[in-house]
Amino acid sequence: MIKLNISIFASGTGSNFKAILKARKKGIIKSNIPLLITNNSHCGAVDIARENGIDVIHISRKVYPDLSEEEYANVFLETLKKYKIDLIVLAGYMKLLPDSVVDEYENRIINIHPALLPSFGGKGMYGINVHRAVLEAGAKVTGITIHFVNKEYDRGRIIFQKCVKVNEGDDEYSLQKRVLKYEHKYYPLIIASLEKIISNEKSNN
Ligand code: GRF
Repeated sequence: MIKLNISIFASGTGSNFKAILKARKKGIIKSNIPLLITNNSHCGAVDIARENGIDVIHISRKVYPDLSEEEYANVFLETLKKYKIDLIVLAGYMKLLPDSVVDEYENRIINIHPALLPSFGGKGMYGINVHRAVLEAGAKVTGITIHFVNKEYDRGRIIFQKCVKVNEGDDEYSLQKRVLKYEHKYYPLIIASLEKIISNEKSNN
């Protein structure tokens, strides 16, 4: 199997990133993970990267206020090229990727969402907001969705979903905690399946 290079993109706590690294240490995920790209240089994911010897590249409009859209997109593309990235894994990344990155990495960018898309997704539906909306709607089940990324928030082709029961007496925090456990279990497994497929494609080319 040809070893791939994965870049994680994250903006927050990084618990999914941590679960992915754990799966890599266990040999479930075989790819190298040489790079974290973040728009938030002070987030937990950055600490996790540093503890694990993973390079951190901070790309945000704060760093590059004067670049055109095209030049800004090229910062991403050149970084990804430099690290020979085959697969982009969004793990709590709060920004839309530039269109040219989505085009360049078609079917090579995945995201995880803490609900059953297409419900409870879209702009503004992130973090605790998602779980609050699920409870406000009175839904009896929620879940996780792992999907390819296209140019709209949370609208790319779905790869995997798993239902999680909403319990009587749940608040958004207890629900978030239960859903996260499923995220940590399944995201690494889906990455492991996908890396096999991409690696096979590469060796057939
Ligand atoms: C997760 O709930 C994930 O589904 C969503 O953002 C959250 C990130 O959490 N996309 P963490 O930073 O991995 O702890």
